Amino acid sequence: MNMISTQAKKALNQQVANYGVLFVKLHNYHWYINGPEFLTLHVKLEELYTWVSEQYDVVAERLLMNHGEPYATLKEYLEHATIEEAKRGLSADEMVESVISDFSQIRKEMLDAIEHLETHDMTVEDDLLAQAKEIEKQIWMLRATLEK
Ligand SMILES: [Fe+2]
Repeated sequence: MNMISTQAKKALNQQVANYGVLFVKLHNYHWYINGPEFLTLHVKLEELYTWVSEQYDVVAERLLMNHGEPYATLKEYLEHATIEEAKRGLSADEMVESVISDFSQIRKEMLDAIEHLETHDMTVEDDLLAQAKEIEKQIWMLRATLEK
């Protein structure tokens, strides 16, 4: 069996941690968002945390299939994530900007991982690329909601 590199495992685990933090953060915004766009964004944020929870599982299980050990506690997520937890008191626009920024960061890390993986494994690359593509689309849609 082809094993993926330690570096590739690290890259996948990085995204498990990021998704773990993002999942909670999207709920936070889903609950605390206010303003004229409430109905649209409340539903959008639910769609996003549902998607994140699915992708999070995909990445963690890809790691397990390659004898990796996905982070699986909140403590580990906070320790290893490159995105930060939600802050209180943000406006709806600031929440959207924050999600765009986190998604951009995650997407960049995924594309960097694909480019720099030592052991090329198409299944890992395919998972990351599929997620990076969907994230790009979500960023585009979120940016459009910020146009006044
Ligand atoms: Fe809800």
